[in-house]
Amino acid sequence: MRFVDAICKKREGGELSDEEIREMIADYVSGAIPDYQMSSMLMAVFFNGMSDRELTSMTLAMRDSGDIVDLSSIPGVKVDKHSTGGVGDKTTLIIGPIVAACGIPVAKMSGRGLGFTGGTVDKWESIPGYETALSMETFFKAVREHGISLVGQSGDLAPADKALYALRDVTGTVESIPLIASSIMSKKLAAGADKIVLDVTVGTGAFMQEYDRAKELAERMVAIGNGAGKETVAMLTDMNEPLGYAIGNNLEVKEAIAMLHGDGPEDLKEICYALAGMMISLAKDGVSYEQGIEMAKEKIADGSAWEKFKEVVGNQGGDLSYIENPEKFPVAPCTSELVAGKSGYISWINTMDFGLAAGMLGAGRAKKDDVIDMSAGIIMKKKLGDQVSEGDVIATLHAGSEEKLETALKHLKSGAYRIEGEKPAPLKLIYEVIR
Ligand code: URA
Repeated sequence: MRFVDAICKKREGGELSDEEIREMIADYVSGAIPDYQMSSMLMAVFFNGMSDRELTSMTLAMRDSGDIVDLSSIPGVKVDKHSTGGVGDKTTLIIGPIVAACGIPVAKMSGRGLGFTGGTVDKWESIPGYETALSMETFFKAVREHGISLVGQSGDLAPADKALYALRDVTGTVESIPLIASSIMSKKLAAGADKIVLDVTVGTGAFMQEYDRAKELAERMVAIGNGAGKETVAMLTDMNEPLGYAIGNNLEVKEAIAMLHGDGPEDLKEICYALAGMMISLAKDGVSYEQGIEMAKEKIADGSAWEKFKEVVGNQGGDLSYIENPEKFPVAPCTSELVAGKSGYISWINTMDFGLAAGMLGAGRAKKDDVIDMSAGIIMKKKLGDQVSEGDVIATLHAGSEEKLETALKHLKSGAYRIEGEKPAPLKLIYEVIR
């Protein structure tokens, strides 16, 4: 086929055939289709969307562009969890050990920070010695012997997504529902789990800020997963404020440790119990979602999730003295405070701005090769709906230099939150479950 004909077809709102899609992905990965033509196709998809058939076909072609992990040698039902991205989201650090403590194998590959969102791999690496780059063999051995391994993406999973994501990033085509759905699901399907729980975030700190679009994304990803023979459930969760109080790598690990001891913030607890409960119910026959939530709570209360956390950290080379004595984690040398300019209630938070500010403090990367400052970040002191008096501290900023503090503080002061006279109605944390 001449690729330009496929571009014109999509531009005019036509449907690409399965063969055209397979050829497009293969030829783009091999370099036979240049970036300028693929950019044009992505823009045509951005404006004209994709049918369910086209989307499934594209996702499977992307999945098949690289390695596919085969977890079948590990006994038991393997359930993966994926979040579409958020700020302060340390749920994997908590949910993995909870689910493993229920006797369900956890073989989870996570990613690094992306844009304003944090990445689980960076959080793990803030524990001195923790190794996230295990060989496939060591990863499988860890899951067989300890029931859990939590690593970065290894092997060559969905290279088509890697190439397409980089192109989307610079061609204004990231925020397209079919392109996001195929990007996420191609990686999930290649990662080898039997079942998938998707945490689809919605709000000011999510890729999808509008509810209807988040729901459509969730529905399309669920359809792809189920169509590919993997039971998939999506939970639409709120991201209109950072999850918990901590944003930034070792700050979030410390909050996760507190939660594993039963002391976590209420919003973090609710989300972790819900996601873990869903994973448990999918993995265990005859266990309902509600029963799964109760089991998750028990694993925190009886200390077994904390024991699993220590086991996984120890097995992956992490220095246990840090997680047993969190005050040992390095602390940023410079701090400053974001204070309320007037009295009232915190009525709105631009969560993305807090994620961006954490990045400016050193908790994220502006360029691919930037080195993260593991102790940098933000501790929220107030949440949505909290009452403040003029001069109260809303958040504490942690960084390696005064310049970074100044830049981040300036960013947050230029409209990252609102204080109003009326107390806002409380938000739901879990809006909907889509099966
Ligand atoms: N996360 C992904 O992996 N891909 C996207 O397109 C957006 C978020």
